[in-house]
Amino acid sequence: MSPFPLDAVDRIMAVMACAFPPEFGEAWNRRQVSDALLLTGTHHGLITPDGSIAPEPNGLVAGFYLSRGVLDEEELLLFAIAPQWRRRGLGHTLLRHFIDGARRRDKKRLFLEMRCNNPAGILYAAHGFRPVGIRPRYYRASNGDRIDAITQELMLD
Ligand SMILES: CC(C)(COP(=O)(O)OP(=O)(O)OC[C@H]1O[C@@H](n2cnc3c(N)ncnc32)[C@H](O)[C@@H]1OP(=O)(O)O)[C@@H](O)C(=O)NCCC(=O)NCCS
Repeated sequence: MSPFPLDAVDRIMAVMACAFPPEFGEAWNRRQVSDALLLTGTHHGLITPDGSIAPEPNGLVAGFYLSRGVLDEEELLLFAIAPQWRRRGLGHTLLRHFIDGARRRDKKRLFLEMRCNNPAGILYAAHGFRPVGIRPRYYRASNGDRIDAITQELMLD
């Protein structure tokens, strides 16, 4: 039997395929997602259009997150809502769920890398994340350009 729910990989990949603009090179491939789910400390959540969140929910999936914790830190590796379900508050609900879960896991520092100028920064700021650094040329765009990443951090008490 598989050590992780294969169905979760399918559902993550379905959102991945439509959520990340291909020109920015942010999306992961299936192998990267499957491998990440096998690692100790990896967490994921799938959100349905009605805002329910579970690792393997019934029915349609509107978005997902994937994170990895090491010691008292956790990195939000991927976070996306499919285009047709955006601007309805699902991003807020899913991000809050991730933060609450990390707090329950006794994490003290949450962080993520975000493409420079991604409007997702507005959502992260609303939940207390703040930019703490720049990784120059972190993403490789489809036209060969390199795009800077902003490191965002949230300290939990
Ligand atoms: C970022 C993302 C997850 C937001 O999902 P969402 O479900 O639309 O989020 P919400 O409806 O909860 O909106 C949260 C707030 O974020 C801000 N926001 C989200 N998308 C925005 C946009 N395109 N432009 C401006 N503000 C935006 C708004 O303040 C919004 O609140 P409002 O709708 O009340 O004005 C979604 O746009 C997405 O999947 N983007 C592509 C993948 C991605 O870039 N992920 C982040 C990687 S670091």
